[in-house]
Amino acid sequence: MQLPRLYGLSALVLTHIHWRQCVAISSAAPDSWQKYVRGPSSRIVYPTSVVSNYTTGNVTNPEGLVNGQGQTILTRSLTDTEIPTIVLDFGLNVVGYLNITFGGASDNSPGIRLAFSETTTYLTNLSDFTRSYNGDAITNGTDQIAVPADPYVWVDSYGCAHGIQVCADGLHGFRYVKIYLDALTSDSPYTEASGEVSIDSVSLRYSALLGTPDTFTGWFECSDEQLNQFWYDAAYTNDMVIDTFGVNDSDPRQSASPSLVGKLVVLDGAKRDRDPYIGDIAVSGRSLYLTHDVSEAVYNVIGDAADHQRSDGWIPPASINNYTLALMDYPLYWVLCSYDLFLYTGNTSYVRKYYSTLQNVLNDYYPSITNSTTSLIDKNVGGASSYGDYAFLRRSGTITYFNALYVLALKSAANVATFVGNDSDADNWTERAEAVSTAINEYLWDNTTGAYLDSLDDAVSHAQDGNSIAVLAGVTNPSQAASLLAYLDTLALPYGNPFYDNDSIGSGYSQRVYAFISYFEIQARFLSGNATTALDQIRRTYGWMANNDPTTTFWEGIGTNGSMYEGAYTSAAHGWSTGVLPALTNFVLGAMPTGPGFQTWSVKPLPGDVTWARGALDTPSGPLNVSWTTGQVSQFSVYVEIPSGTSGNISVPVTSSTSSILLDGVLVWNGEAANNSNATFADSYVTVPVSGATANVTVP
Ligand SMILES: *[C@@H]1O[C@H](CO)[C@@H](O)[C@H](O)[C@H]1NC(C)=O
Ligand SMILES: *[C@@H]1O[C@H](CO)[C@@H](O)[C@H](O)[C@H]1NC(C)=O
Ligand SMILES: *[C@@H]1O[C@H](CO)[C@@H](O)[C@H](O)[C@H]1NC(C)=O
Ligand SMILES: *[C@@H]1O[C@H](CO)[C@@H](O)[C@H](O)[C@H]1NC(C)=O
Ligand SMILES: *[C@@H]1O[C@H](CO)[C@@H](O)[C@H](O)[C@H]1NC(C)=O
Ligand SMILES: *[C@@H]1O[C@H](CO)[C@@H](O)[C@H](O)[C@H]1NC(C)=O
Ligand SMILES: *[C@@H]1O[C@H](CO)[C@@H](O)[C@H](O)[C@H]1NC(C)=O
Ligand SMILES: *[C@@H]1O[C@H](CO)[C@@H](O)[C@H](O)[C@H]1NC(C)=O
Ligand SMILES: *[C@@H]1O[C@H](CO)[C@@H](O)[C@H](O)[C@H]1NC(C)=O
Ligand SMILES: *[C@@H]1O[C@H](CO)[C@@H](O)[C@H](O)[C@H]1NC(C)=O
Ligand SMILES: *[C@@H]1O[C@H](CO)[C@@H](O)[C@H](O)[C@H]1NC(C)=O
Ligand SMILES: *[C@@H]1O[C@H](CO)[C@@H](O)[C@H](O)[C@H]1NC(C)=O
Repeated sequence: MQLPRLYGLSALVLTHIHWRQCVAISSAAPDSWQKYVRGPSSRIVYPTSVVSNYTTGNVTNPEGLVNGQGQTILTRSLTDTEIPTIVLDFGLNVVGYLNITFGGASDNSPGIRLAFSETTTYLTNLSDFTRSYNGDAITNGTDQIAVPADPYVWVDSYGCAHGIQVCADGLHGFRYVKIYLDALTSDSPYTEASGEVSIDSVSLRYSALLGTPDTFTGWFECSDEQLNQFWYDAAYTNDMVIDTFGVNDSDPRQSASPSLVGKLVVLDGAKRDRDPYIGDIAVSGRSLYLTHDVSEAVYNVIGDAADHQRSDGWIPPASINNYTLALMDYPLYWVLCSYDLFLYTGNTSYVRKYYSTLQNVLNDYYPSITNSTTSLIDKNVGGASSYGDYAFLRRSGTITYFNALYVLALKSAANVATFVGNDSDADNWTERAEAVSTAINEYLWDNTTGAYLDSLDDAVSHAQDGNSIAVLAGVTNPSQAASLLAYLDTLALPYGNPFYDNDSIGSGYSQRVYAFISYFEIQARFLSGNATTALDQIRRTYGWMANNDPTTTFWEGIGTNGSMYEGAYTSAAHGWSTGVLPALTNFVLGAMPTGPGFQTWSVKPLPGDVTWARGALDTPSGPLNVSWTTGQVSQFSVYVEIPSGTSGNISVPVTSSTSSILLDGVLVWNGEAANNSNATFADSYVTVPVSGATANVTVP
């Protein structure tokens, strides 16, 4: 989530987590992907280096904090002009509570100040983010320590040592920490900006999901090592935002809801805002299902949002501001998140429990903001004009994005309605999806550009969100899809595709890239059969972030010239930016659920320039193991180990509609279905229905 800074306060509590042991993945899993796994190997994390160009003042043995050889001593006399300073690099972005073991100090309570940063770019004397930036006043930029004379272990915990003096933030998300001997004048007389401080060690107690290789319940590997690393970088980025909701380490803006505190949740970012946002989970939920067996982290959030549904059917986007932050798109993401939980985990009790929530949001809230002339959601109708979206964009009136997302939500909801046996809702939602699709095409398609207008009411612009989601929602026909995707590609930047084609809605928008919204475009490319441009977009977007500090974790947004789009405030580890992970699993490996809990599934590889891929998806009936290769023994070969009791469709690319296809060595297609296989041909793929224990589909 990207949110303008608001203000509020919160109370105190500390929480602890116990991660449940995860089930080991299939014994068939090769041991070749583990090398890509990022993240700490244990909960105690040590710095990997001293960034020596930042060392200033009288510092003895700075390297001792990395190699454990002897104490590190910071000394500052009242006359010293240089402040003793050390910067430690943890080697990658981490999140948790810093721990400093002091070996002793001069007896004047010398002060230590700590400035945390995810990047060297925003590494200054103040942290790139403290809770004070969101209205919690106690730290104002740095964490403070009054070092006692005797040896002492300091653990960063939220609060103040004396009243409102000598305060610390507690949890931080960071890669670098600057440690310097200094004191705030406002902390007098409890600390002084001079004296001698001896440090034995510095470490971090990592707080989020510890995603060591043995905890993965799904994995991915292919012929392209860079794509593999993106997948595991995304997994680590997502791990960093899966944490227990704590009052003092979540967004201070009235987000500490009693119904969330102490529960495992999916936050938006590691450093901030640290609130679970429903829209963000539309991406990070998928990354979670495909990597770790902790779906309760999604359930806890979307169930809680449903429990806070407003009487008019609107669903809050997050707990912030006591569940009142007015967003118009996030209730639709709630529908999509609920549908994903249903498909990936088979949690049918969830969809039954919250079916009335689904009815209320689709039958009450969205009709109340629908323009009866156009059949489209309209910000001018029903008091919706003040409602924002994922980035609080100042757009007005009838907007393609909301309506395309509405179609996608209606179609997903119709499947849920069919599952629970409510045919009248299923019919209504299907018909409404068709009516809204027709209206989007009637009012918003721009023939001049060959893409959808962002809005009927604002200056002409074309946005990535509405155009991409229109493809995913099936609003487009194939020529519209090809046309708008080709148009979006004309906007390409070295660090991804921008979310607007001009700056009429906001300054710099035509140079801004959200990996969050790019995920919809990437999916649209794959779904349109264009793996080449999908992979190109992945490589530019994720390659940029992987090669820029802090590396390994994916940012909330990329700004002009590839900068962090909101400067120091930008979160460099945001779950909504992990779409590369589900994109690679769902489209390059090609596997996805099509029915609840993978009762039915499909495998349809879209290789682009990838020559082989393999991986596993966790299902309630065991792993769905998939591997495919091209051009070795046969033109194309897909091998699937099928979770027991499930069935699926395997689609293989063919050069001709009359190509021969074998299933376990038996002919199933040669221009028509052979041997009662029910195989079909469409769009250069032959699709073969399969069940049983394994299936080996080959194009000889
Ligand atoms: C110190 O070195 C790092 C790279 O190790 C670089 O990113 C940073 O800009 C340098 N900072 C200063 C103040 O020289
Ligand atoms: C640096 O501090 C040490 C004590 O830790 C002291 O012995 C030494 O004289 C100081 N060096 C300077 C240049 O002030
Ligand atoms: C930042 O800290 C360095 C020493 O670590 C010091 O030289 C510099 O004056 C400080 N800058 C500000 C603006 O306080
Ligand atoms: C702090 O670090 C020290 C030394 O590594 C360790 O003994 C201690 O258990 C840690 N304390 C906490 C609360 O993490
Ligand atoms: C916070 O820090 C700024 C500059 O560092 C200072 O101007 C301001 O007075 C401080 N506010 C508080 C509440 O300490
Ligand atoms: C949050 O809103 C609920 C329902 O309106 C109310 O009962 C509760 O007191 C509010 N909590 C806070 C902290 O304001
Ligand atoms: C579906 O339900 C809505 C809300 O209950 C109703 O207004 C509408 O007429 C129904 N039919 C269609 C096709 O939307
Ligand atoms: C509904 O849409 C039509 C066509 O764009 C527009 O003329 C009308 O003002 C809209 N209604 C409202 C209430 O905004
Ligand atoms: C746009 O072009 C399509 C055919 O490509 C046509 O059916 C439609 O009427 C045109 N729409 C407008 C608004 O010109
Ligand atoms: C993929 O998209 C590009 C640019 O949009 C286009 O040039 C190319 O023909 C497309 N390829 C396929 C297979 O559709
Ligand atoms: C799949 O079938 C092909 C051709 O029949 C064969 O070469 C290959 O070994 C089979 N793969 C597996 C995993 O059984
Ligand atoms: C093909 O379809 C027929 C009719 O639906 C069905 O009876 C048969 O079991 C199917 N065969 C396979 C291999 O799926």
